[in-house]
Amino acid sequence: MKSKKDIYILGIESSCDETAASVVKNGREIVSDVVLSQIDIHRLYGGVVPEIASRNHVEVVDMVVEKALSDANMTLTDIDAVAVTYGAGLVGALLVGVSYAKGLCQASGLPLIAVNHIEGHICANYLTYPDLNPPYVCLLTSGGHTAIVNVLDYDRYDVICSTVDDAVGEAFDKVARVLGLPYPGGPRIDRLAQEGQPIYGFHSVVTSNGNFSYSGLKTAVINLLHNAEQKGEQLSKADVAASFTHAAIDGLISRLSDVVKETGATTVAVAGGVGANSYLREQLTRFNAQGKRVCLPKLSLCGDNAAMIASRGYYMYLKNEFANLSLNACPTLRLRGDKPKR
Ligand code: KG4
Ligand code: ZN
Repeated sequence: MKSKKDIYILGIESSCDETAASVVKNGREIVSDVVLSQIDIHRLYGGVVPEIASRNHVEVVDMVVEKALSDANMTLTDIDAVAVTYGAGLVGALLVGVSYAKGLCQASGLPLIAVNHIEGHICANYLTYPDLNPPYVCLLTSGGHTAIVNVLDYDRYDVICSTVDDAVGEAFDKVARVLGLPYPGGPRIDRLAQEGQPIYGFHSVVTSNGNFSYSGLKTAVINLLHNAEQKGEQLSKADVAASFTHAAIDGLISRLSDVVKETGATTVAVAGGVGANSYLREQLTRFNAQGKRVCLPKLSLCGDNAAMIASRGYYMYLKNEFANLSLNACPTLRLRGDKPKR
């Protein structure tokens, strides 16, 4: 039964290779959550092919949104606003969701909300922990972004440090490729690493000014494999995966530790696809021993989904932050307050 004060947001997400739609109540409660992944299609090419992603979004977006509404046992008349990802992501893929959402709003008269995908990832925490409120420190680890963010309020972020080159998820995918593992590499490396030992040392991913750099780590793994090949040695892929994982994650945890001390934060959260990594999740629990609250979004909410977009949309709805129908996709959108670091 819908009470008057409840706000239902329909979220739509199509920034990369997942077409997703979801209905979320009051920013916190998932009423329906549909995610249609294109992974099987892109695996054939070893990575996401932007043109193919856009075409597939076009084919299924209508069906995915219909299913999210029918799973929620709702029609558009029960919805208060449509929230859509407008960046960051692949421009053609984003445009499918944006155009579809604009069409829905034009036809129904519902307000349109333009959501930043990265802010959406952070909101995955509100869906897993309904009592979580800012401030807290969030480790943002996706395929396109890596940063430590002081979340001061629902719409105020202090980006404390971020990557100067590749994102951590990108590094997982690239290293998986050189190890001959199928796309997407992150979950494959995660599983393989659990069978190996971190016997190879790599340089820290933390730069001298406290940001992150992943391009050197990727090259170091490639060099290790090439040198072994030239010497006719057979390396254990599991040991390489474990060594890479430790190097990729340990730097994040050590910087997070500094930031938690500096800010005096009492809560630590994680967001983004790499937040599903088992070693990362295990390492984050060490903050519990320091009396901190550790928030780990449900695995299904770490990767791309529309529930997190609807959650972010709810907080924008409360502030009347509506978009107009000239909304365009913004593929290079950054988190508010983030600036490129060198
Ligand atoms: O947040 P996300 O779904 O998409 C972006 O917004 O980028 O992140 C996708 C990234 C991919 O690079 C994928 O390989 C990585 O998250 N990933 C993982 C794991 N699951 C997904 N990386 C490491 N371990 C995992 N278990
Ligand atoms: Zn994402």
